Amino acid sequence: MSRQINVAIVGLGFGAEFIPIYQRHPQANMYAICQRTQTKLDAVGDAFGVGKRYTDFNELLKDPQVDAVHINSPIHLHAEQSLAALKAGKHVACTVPMATTVEECRAIVQAVKDTGLTYMMMETVLYSREFLFVKEQYDRGELGRVQFLRASHQQEMAGWPGYWEGLPPMHYATHCVGPVLGLTRSEAEYVSCLGSGRISDDLIPKYNSPFAIETCHIRFRDSDLAAEVTRSLFNTARQYRESFDVYGSKKSFEWTQIEHEDHVVHTGETPSRVKVPDYAHLLPAEIASFTTAGVYDSDNNQHLSFIQGAGHGGSHPHLAHQFISSLVEKKAPYPDARQSANITCVGILAHESAMQGGKMLRMPDFTMS
Ligand SMILES: NC(=O)c1ccc[n+]([C@@H]2O[C@H](COP(=O)([O-])OP(=O)(O)OC[C@H]3O[C@@H](n4cnc5c(N)ncnc54)[C@H](O)[C@@H]3O)[C@@H](O)[C@H]2O)c1
Repeated sequence: MSRQINVAIVGLGFGAEFIPIYQRHPQANMYAICQRTQTKLDAVGDAFGVGKRYTDFNELLKDPQVDAVHINSPIHLHAEQSLAALKAGKHVACTVPMATTVEECRAIVQAVKDTGLTYMMMETVLYSREFLFVKEQYDRGELGRVQFLRASHQQEMAGWPGYWEGLPPMHYATHCVGPVLGLTRSEAEYVSCLGSGRISDDLIPKYNSPFAIETCHIRFRDSDLAAEVTRSLFNTARQYRESFDVYGSKKSFEWTQIEHEDHVVHTGETPSRVKVPDYAHLLPAEIASFTTAGVYDSDNNQHLSFIQGAGHGGSHPHLAHQFISSLVEKKAPYPDARQSANITCVGILAHESAMQGGKMLRMPDFTMS
């Protein structure tokens, strides 16, 4: 494809944040938006000047002008919509997680094989400035031998839309599984997870999941490495936290304990605080400013009210760029369908393991190369 990629965004809560990025990306055309309520659809469409609007996802898929859909609907729709889009001949970028069952992940991986289309799971931590910083150090050999990785994602979800209530913590684990596998571009082969504590009685029956915290060990395939990831969603008092720690023989990186404090690099007994730079230089100039806080629309002389700015570690422009360049350059994005399935199935199997008292479970073959 030498022309611009016509992108349609589905789901305009979080999804709306990507509209101005695709609008400015030199190889993308922000073609259409889709969400069910007409009033909200029009409000977003008018604010950003997107003319093509759909309240029905299936109608959107019939539009031959749409090359790629970027799905940001609620979790339980991710697999169904990704599969429908692939079957309609559209490339797919989908927010996390890829799906909620192993079978759905298998079906998406198969659909990508059958169609030759591109699928990318838009995992934000994999393109956060912290991850890009550690990855740069790893690629340069500065960490020495990587010995262990650890990540966490702790969030209090009380008051969020109903589909979140009682969700097993590991069913939304990609923010911590993604970076521990992504640094060395490894695959998970085995998981063993323990559940701990108990959420409130009214939340438990929604998914028959009692645990406040789930913590999982991951054994990497063809590697001596292991990692540990921790998740909590309800009844656990902690500030929002996404974290990623890497222990190397020469250098280790630890994510700060408190948001907005500087992270820590250890080289032995002399730890130092480090300012993690933005990685805007990796992006086309037109979208580089989206890595930093606050987005101001100078064309229209107004703040973009739908945009949270540089949330999620400044990852949004990197995600959009990775997806668009994979289509333009015809190369696999990271993570592609199989890699996304491996990352997502760690969480799904981890919860199964926790429900079985920590039994070690092997990842399905279709998630491994
Ligand atoms: N860091 C991250 O990666 C990150 C951050 C926030 C949200 N998310 C993901 O984004 C998704 C959406 O989150 P949100 O907070 O915006 O949720 P939300 O419930 O506020 O918004 C969902 C959007 O999807 C639309 N929608 C629902 N059903 C639809 C359908 N059948 N067809 C078309 N549109 C439909 C809704 O109208 C709404 O615009 C979730 O899956 C969440 O996991 C990821």
